Amino acid sequence: MTPISLTVNGRTVQALVEPRMHLGDFLREHCRLTGTHLGCEHGVCGACTVLIAGAPARSCITYAVACDGLAIRTIEGFDDDPSMAELREAFSREHALQCGFCTPGMLIAARDIAERVPDADERRIRVELSGNLCRCTGYRGIVNAVRSVVEARRQQPAVSMPKAGAAPAAAPLATFVPKESEASPAAAAASATAADEPRQGWTRFEESFVILQPPATVWNAFEDIPAVTACLPGATLTEYDAHTVKGKMSVKLGPISASFAGSAGIERDDAALRGAIRGAGSDRGTGSRTKGEVIYRLQPESDGRQTRVILSVEYSLQGALAQFSRSGIAQDLGRRLVAEFAANLNARLTGTSPDRQSSTQLNVGRLLRLWVRDRLRRLIGLDQPK
Ligand code: FES
Ligand code: FES
Repeated sequence: MTPISLTVNGRTVQALVEPRMHLGDFLREHCRLTGTHLGCEHGVCGACTVLIAGAPARSCITYAVACDGLAIRTIEGFDDDPSMAELREAFSREHALQCGFCTPGMLIAARDIAERVPDADERRIRVELSGNLCRCTGYRGIVNAVRSVVEARRQQPAVSMPKAGAAPAAAPLATFVPKESEASPAAAAASATAADEPRQGWTRFEESFVILQPPATVWNAFEDIPAVTACLPGATLTEYDAHTVKGKMSVKLGPISASFAGSAGIERDDAALRGAIRGAGSDRGTGSRTKGEVIYRLQPESDGRQTRVILSVEYSLQGALAQFSRSGIAQDLGRRLVAEFAANLNARLTGTSPDRQSSTQLNVGRLLRLWVRDRLRRLIGLDQPK
């Protein structure tokens, strides 16, 4: 146990904590401040956002011991805050909440925008809110609420805006993210034993799936680029030949919709039934850029009647959507995307209907919800891990 002393909503709190306890649990369990909600506990959903030294940060990926000596402000600490009062009223007026689970984190992020980016337009508000996911509202009400407060403040330049906490809002969020050396022992061991590390800043995962057709059929199907593209949720093809493809990938993550335009090179080794796809793309709307590489090989199964497709996927993401690649959750979501692709391809090759049609937009929020559902089912023992 480690002694810590910090200020929570203006009151000094001293405690002995396990070094592994994150700030979200500390606030909820030790301080009984349950307004800080925990959703993903992976740093993705933003429900746990609080102010640390005046800057919004995710309490689920911040160790309590890392906050020793700092000032924390949770949603309960804004009762008398004029900015928050305006936002609360706007959220109510604009129907910016339904279940309210995301709302504490959303309000803290919204207040930071109202105070730090006084000239924010709708696009900037959406980018700034991209770290906070809401599964109910569709975001229009939230964005309208924040915009109405920002615009009202612009028309009243004489009104001084009180500052949250004591520290400047520009304190970098990354300061509070655990360093790699602080990662869990299991994660550290896994990464230390990996045969070769992913490139710095890239995320990699390996996956495989089975297609109910022999390898030769699957290999030929992979040559049919329009058919393969149609199986990938969010992908559309604009140009292609045997060696290159150009197209778009539409992604929805929280309040942000992005459309990555890009191109990729295709390599195929007919003798070894192996291939590689390497490409890059960018979305002008959010300024996000991505590069990626998929290496695959086909392996016969069930006496050659079926095919196992073995994939190694590696990618980097920069810009507003980079949050998607910053935690291990990205690998789980990647697996879900691969599973949807496999289901669609199986359906196409066997002439059956997929459970769900391939969508014109990759909805990361939906994949995230399915991932959370799967985890819960495993936790309560309904499903065994595969
Ligand atoms: S609970 Fe912390 S980001 Fe989701
Ligand atoms: S209001 Fe339900 S998650 Fe946002």
